[in-house]
Amino acid sequence: MKENIPFSPPYIDSDVIDEVKDALTSGWITTGPKVKQLEDEISKLTGIENVLCLNSATSGLMLTLKWFGVGAGDEVIIPAYTYCATALAVYHVGAKPVIVDVRDDFNIDPGVIRKAITKNTKAIIPVDIAGWPADYNAINSIVEKKDVNCLFKPDSEEQKRLGRILIISDAAHSLGAKYKGKPVGQTADITVFSLHAVKNVTSAEGGAICMNLPGEFDNTELYNLMRLMSLNGQTKDAFTKTKAGGWRYDIVLPGFKMNMPDVCAAIGLAQMRKYKNQLLSDRKRIAELYFESFQKYEWAQLPNLELENSITSYHIFPLRIKAINENARDLIINEITKHSVAVNVHFIPLPMLSIFKKMDYKIDDFPIAYDNYSREISLPIYPQLTNDQIKYIIKAVVSSYSKIIND
Ligand SMILES: Cc1ncc(COP(=O)(O)O)c(C=O)c1O
Repeated sequence: MKENIPFSPPYIDSDVIDEVKDALTSGWITTGPKVKQLEDEISKLTGIENVLCLNSATSGLMLTLKWFGVGAGDEVIIPAYTYCATALAVYHVGAKPVIVDVRDDFNIDPGVIRKAITKNTKAIIPVDIAGWPADYNAINSIVEKKDVNCLFKPDSEEQKRLGRILIISDAAHSLGAKYKGKPVGQTADITVFSLHAVKNVTSAEGGAICMNLPGEFDNTELYNLMRLMSLNGQTKDAFTKTKAGGWRYDIVLPGFKMNMPDVCAAIGLAQMRKYKNQLLSDRKRIAELYFESFQKYEWAQLPNLELENSITSYHIFPLRIKAINENARDLIINEITKHSVAVNVHFIPLPMLSIFKKMDYKIDDFPIAYDNYSREISLPIYPQLTNDQIKYIIKAVVSSYSKIIND
């Protein structure tokens, strides 16, 4: 029987609808109690006390860079293999994204980070591609090195207090993942999750910042400050102002408008309550079925799911085909599409996109990113998929591979 399989529909069940209805009929639809409850749920999952929800992960990255005083003349190191948002957040605060190559596991190569560090480097943003955590031990130890520390020239109060390069984890994909036994959220100074519509947990659009700064900082104070920065710098949020007698406010800093509405938080809240035990386990079921089924094909290169106490969040299933070029990969995708299975490519490396070409980046300087990209096909992975549908997808991939490569 022919199936029609979309790539990544959102998970909307009656609990999500009830929670949204509750927000809609509560008399309050923007930032308020639902956002706080969602922050608490993410807090429980990550073990990080201070979690701030915003309107996107891009906002979270920008807000973090702004808070740290990153701006014109500064550099931020990012991987070539990511979505543009990682780079654009850097660009929008006026700093320069310094793009480096990745490893075979799709994530930033700690070996090349050291060479990219200059006296202008203020932050590094590793990205947990597909939900697989970057190598945080290696990255954290680079910024602690004496010769690297000597280069660090702090400008802002926050930079002086930290006294080293800030590590911001772009964890847009890795909510619920673990790095060497530690939940993502605890692996970097600041971790930013995305709750965008295609993510493991969604609020339609949204993001969450986990604050995990070392002892020199008070993370609760930082939460309050970032919340203020996300709400125009206004001393009272709109919810508090609706209370009788609560009208007077002040604007104490030039903030942004990056807050998450309650009506959006409600979607994420209902999903978060069943994330660990249901939605994430369902993703695991699918990833394992793919893994077992493709293992017998010598042409299939499979992603890391669990290794050395690190566990993916099963956000993307990035299958790579051995010994093919970009053109053959594209033909295989066209063939898969004929079976009405929607697949994707994560990601087109930044140096292949016009805006970064204009910044003089050339894909030839990023051979691993290009190799990963040219052979990659992201397969559908979401809780609603049945085992029969997964088997249908596998069949479609295998027959498409055979048709293109063996014909
Ligand atoms: C790796 C990565 N970083 C950042 C983002 C930005 O997330 P958001 O859309 O929530 O701003 C995405 C979104 O797809 C992403 O894939």
